[in-house]
Amino acid sequence: MKRVLFIYFSQSGQLEEIARSIAKPLLEDNDITVDFYEIKMVHAFPFPWTSDSFFNTFPETFKQIPEEIHPPAPAILNTAYDLIVLHYQVWYLSPSIPINSFLKSSYAKALLADKPVITVSGSRNMWALAQDKVKVLLHDVHATLVGNIALTDRHHNLISVVTIVDWMFSGIKRRAYGVFPMPGVAKKEIANADKYGKIIQPYLKKGTFGGLQNELVANGAVDYRFFLVSMDQKGNRMFGIWSSLIVRNPQKRTRLITLFKYYVVFAIYGVSPIVYLIELLLYPLLYFVKYRKEKKHYEGI
Ligand SMILES: Cc1cc2nc3c(=O)[nH]c(=O)nc-3n(C[C@H](O)[C@H](O)[C@H](O)COP(=O)(O)O)c2cc1C
Repeated sequence: MKRVLFIYFSQSGQLEEIARSIAKPLLEDNDITVDFYEIKMVHAFPFPWTSDSFFNTFPETFKQIPEEIHPPAPAILNTAYDLIVLHYQVWYLSPSIPINSFLKSSYAKALLADKPVITVSGSRNMWALAQDKVKVLLHDVHATLVGNIALTDRHHNLISVVTIVDWMFSGIKRRAYGVFPMPGVAKKEIANADKYGKIIQPYLKKGTFGGLQNELVANGAVDYRFFLVSMDQKGNRMFGIWSSLIVRNPQKRTRLITLFKYYVVFAIYGVSPIVYLIELLLYPLLYFVKYRKEKKHYEGI
């Protein structure tokens, strides 16, 4: 009998749907037991978000400052799992506060130490550098990363910003203004995520995970896009400056957060299209200098 723990946090339910889709083939297997653990915050974040609460979460998210979480059920803490599937969403190019809080808690050490872990992200599209941060957190609790699946909104970056804002601020996954595509990870992609469960199944039974990531990637688990990683890198540099500025000046916090909000809108709609054109022109050169290596890194574990 093999035991798997699916860990997730989700506000809209999207990550839970993804987790249950991946778990489906494992749940149907009599030789596998599947448990689910939903991370619960002591102080819950609002959903739907207001503009103020959304941007006010930025400094602590980016600085990866943990908050208190409720403990997992004793039955979960007392089980020795053969595999952990850790689902997370990206907030401000970083693991969300609930996931960061869990990974920095004693519960993560108890559940994940010396265990194989598969990470699954369900984000808008900028997951790459957050995955690097999750890798550090997993390393800190002595977990072994054996696979990664990154599910995203496949629409154009500028379109997915409009649709996710509408979704996060209304709480409803709908076509923004009646004309935009649906936000988030596509319904079909979530439904088809059971294919990843089928891929994981024999590795779990064997108890060795060598070759798993290659098979996941061959089946669409990771979609490396050079421009999104490039924006992620630039965003991380700027977010580092902004978050330090805000945290070091608590008396000016409200004003600085408002300025940060305008900065984000300007960076996405004013700067990013120009940078995109420049990087597209330089693509043949940058492919050999940078992108080829990056693709290998992000498709790997
Ligand atoms: C405060 C906040 C910040 C976010 N920042 C990012 C981001 O930097 N990159 C990204 O791809 N998605 C970002 N998202 C989208 C989330 O990764 C995720 O897709 C969305 O919150 C739905 O997840 P759920 O399962 O928790 O409802 C952000 C969402 C929130 C609420």
